[in-house]
Amino acid sequence: MTDDARQQTQEVYYPTESIVEQANITAYMRSKGFSNWDDLHRWSLDQSDTFWDEMAQRLGWYAPYTQILDDSKKPFFTWFTGGKTNIVHNAIDRHMSTWRRNKLAFIWEGEDGTVRNFSYADVNREVSKLANVLKAMGVQKGDIVSIYLPRVPELPFAMLACAKIGAAHSVIYGGFSHEALRDRIADAQSKVLITADGGYMRNKVIELKKIADDAMSSSPTIQTAIVLKRTGHAVDMHVGRDYWWHDLMALPIASERCETEVVDAEHPLFILYTSGSTGKPKGVVHTHGGYSVGIATTFHFTFDIKDHDIYWCAADPGWITGHSYIVYAPLIEGATSFIYEGAPNYPYPNRWWQIVERYKISILYTAPTAIRGLMRFGDAWPKRHDLSSLRLLGSVGEPINPEAWRWYYDIIGGGNCPIMDTWWQTETGGFMITPNPTTPLKPGSGTKAFLGIEMDVVDEHGNRTADNADGLLVAKRPWPSIMRTILHDAERYANSYWNNEPVGLYTAGDSARRDKDGYFWVIGRIDDVIKVSGYRLGTAEIESALVSHPAVAEAAAIGLPHEIKGTGIHCFVILRSGIEGSDKLSEELRTHVAKELGPITKPEAVSFMAALPKTRSGKIMRRVLKAQALGQDLGDISTLEG
Ligand code: WT7
Repeated sequence: MTDDARQQTQEVYYPTESIVEQANITAYMRSKGFSNWDDLHRWSLDQSDTFWDEMAQRLGWYAPYTQILDDSKKPFFTWFTGGKTNIVHNAIDRHMSTWRRNKLAFIWEGEDGTVRNFSYADVNREVSKLANVLKAMGVQKGDIVSIYLPRVPELPFAMLACAKIGAAHSVIYGGFSHEALRDRIADAQSKVLITADGGYMRNKVIELKKIADDAMSSSPTIQTAIVLKRTGHAVDMHVGRDYWWHDLMALPIASERCETEVVDAEHPLFILYTSGSTGKPKGVVHTHGGYSVGIATTFHFTFDIKDHDIYWCAADPGWITGHSYIVYAPLIEGATSFIYEGAPNYPYPNRWWQIVERYKISILYTAPTAIRGLMRFGDAWPKRHDLSSLRLLGSVGEPINPEAWRWYYDIIGGGNCPIMDTWWQTETGGFMITPNPTTPLKPGSGTKAFLGIEMDVVDEHGNRTADNADGLLVAKRPWPSIMRTILHDAERYANSYWNNEPVGLYTAGDSARRDKDGYFWVIGRIDDVIKVSGYRLGTAEIESALVSHPAVAEAAAIGLPHEIKGTGIHCFVILRSGIEGSDKLSEELRTHVAKELGPITKPEAVSFMAALPKTRSGKIMRRVLKAQALGQDLGDISTLEG
């Protein structure tokens, strides 16, 4: 469906009275004396210090902050200045003295059906022990530990153990190649890598240790690897460098007592790499204080979390969605967070629905690509299961098309679960545009900005666009969980988000429209970033992977519509002289990209060209390639090289 058609759907879905009555947001609105969302939202902007102060006071602090927002060094903002905290104090320690000590923090199901349960006390024990191990390995406050693990409970434990001792973690998604891992280890200067022998996906072993070995062989900073035994298959253990996780955790140094390090609100919590339009991936930096407040607040009001909920975010903990909304926000709010290890359709397309029924999942948060992927197997699979435990649904990663929205709403939600279509980014840390359970929903729109968040659609001069006109999606003021900088490249942070046109506003890199009701409709990226199955990839990375192949002289990558993935990668290459294009070479280049960057980046197609459309200054006009591929009008090509 086209964007126009998406927007023209006039359907509005209203929440039931019982959903509205029990919602956290309703209680808050009443406590503030407001009777509608817009008034509450206006107040949260007019009195934003008061609002964020109230939200910060829901959490514990070792020492109080003296200022809410310091914007004197814009765009290098600091929040809750002077406050002393640690995210682990709120995520774990606080629960140790309450009944939640024995509540389940994580329920994990392996692809093979194994179930592992961890109470908050169990998490505290595992995290404390590992924190002591890390200290014994010489990890200090301010260091960055790299983590390359499959989707197992030890991934959150490793993150929390770093945070507990004031080290930052850098999680590298298990689907990345050894080159990507090596580059990220080097950027972070990590002394320690936490990895595993392997992981499972569709009953196949992913050889993580082998990939990690390749990366570590050219990572001079690495002194120690902690290796989790997940699959038990034979791996090389490098004497003096590699240690089994379980051996270390059995040593006396792995004591169950470990003091949580007191850190400044602005102390770095983690680095997470994400693609930009040019150059190498950006190491986005988030901090303990503002990030905690931002994600806990959005989670509380959007997912309306209650103590009886079993919440399942089906993303990977290794992405920002997992960092914020599988690990940190659910723990801070004392929730039970479910994690499933494997593929959604393994062994059959009812795996997810079986899980919902078995664990009585009440909140399910996933991505449009997963919904479309499961929808294609038909209604019979979900209909075999009792999904009546579901109360709320969520979507993230890309715009959701109304067909997928309706299927999710009717077939999965049984027509009575509001869908929280949350728009946000690695850089924003938490939700920016999102409904809450009381919001009237329009399929395909993320509805309105969250409390304390001011979003708009503007032209390149910063002027507000007319209703329904395309423009740039911007945030007009900072918020607590905004990224603080790009690791080693503060200038790139300032220039990519604040100093480009329109100057002085946070530009997200997305185009969008605002309708007459003030609802936002995100159209997609305006830069050279492609969203494949919700994963964010830069055309620059794909192109440089292609050019690293000896047959390729020049390359261009574009995204074209794909039924399940949303967007698929299509590449156009100019071969070096004397080399002939063939189906075999095209296949070899597709495999080459997947090997360089990881399997998710494998292009749908690689075609050969004699020339690429370029501007006179030599910039590839990907827009023209795209229009050609789609058989569309080429638009303004006045800058095209003659
Ligand atoms: C980009 C950020 C934030 C977690 C996952 C992705 C797109 C994200 C939505 C949504 C339309 C969305 C945007 C954004 N996006 N959520 N609900 N509707 N588009 O994080 O990898 O940093 O990607 O994802 O284009 O800029 P990310």
